[in-house]
Amino acid sequence: MARDTGPVDGYDASTYGDRFADVYDDWYGDVTDVVACTQHLAALAAAHGGGPVLELGVGSGRLAIPLAGLGIEVHGIDASAAMVERLRAKPGGDAIAVFIGDMADLDLPSAPAFSVAFVAFNTFFNLPTEADQRRCLERVAVLLAPDGVLVIEAFVPQDDLGAGAEASVAPRRITADEVILTVSRVDEASQTISGQHVHLREDGIRLRPWHLRYATPTQLDTLAADAGLVLDTRAAGWDGEPFTASSGVHVSTYRRANVRDVPEDPPAEPR
Ligand SMILES: C[S@@+](CC[C@H](N)C(=O)[O-])C[C@H]1O[C@@H](n2cnc3c(N)ncnc32)[C@H](O)[C@@H]1O
Repeated sequence: MARDTGPVDGYDASTYGDRFADVYDDWYGDVTDVVACTQHLAALAAAHGGGPVLELGVGSGRLAIPLAGLGIEVHGIDASAAMVERLRAKPGGDAIAVFIGDMADLDLPSAPAFSVAFVAFNTFFNLPTEADQRRCLERVAVLLAPDGVLVIEAFVPQDDLGAGAEASVAPRRITADEVILTVSRVDEASQTISGQHVHLREDGIRLRPWHLRYATPTQLDTLAADAGLVLDTRAAGWDGEPFTASSGVHVSTYRRANVRDVPEDPPAEPR
């Protein structure tokens, strides 16, 4: 079983967002297909009661704002006030009900029952330990409407994630005015990747750290099952691309376990 170690010293739930807020939209604004994602989520919400949608790790509103633009009531949680400030400053940002807090301890006072909760672009892996991920799923299960669903978008860890590259330094960007070095370390035992984008400019250095606790789709299914959620569908992207053994990303939808998922007691043995 994986060790349950947390991130490097000085890193907490708000660190990632606080250190990336100034560059997040520039670096990651089009990192995934926003139109396919938001249309899929809007259709899912309509199919599951038409109620509100909750985004975990809502960040700068890259997905939440266009989703609200489709007529969906969107709520979000994020640990970083700096990220939420970016969301608030955008047109349409005031339509999102945002709560600042740790999604590991998801506590949304007077939250409505959600038709859909989702966590996109590997953000579930920002929860630094398996215990945090477990707590988060347990809370999501409580917040979902009876017919509600949870959607997780995440990368599929490859078997050789750490092989030969437990620690690496690689250039991410080199221009005449700046160099960004990506420094990272994989710990396969704890299934964690700790890293920094070291941003070097004439006027100084910015450190942009991250920490991921990754999990395989099967491990996520087990954590979800422990929280009372079962896998409904798994695709390789927001357009419903078929998920195969070679898929690098999965979009997995979980619904509440219900009576039809509980195996019936085997018939009593004749005596
Ligand atoms: C990779 S960004 C994704 C933002 C947005 N969902 C998107 O797809 O653009 C991860 C976000 O999760 C937030 N975050 C990280 N750990 C968190 C935690 N434990 N609780 C709440 N938010 C967290 C960060 O502040 C950041 O805004």
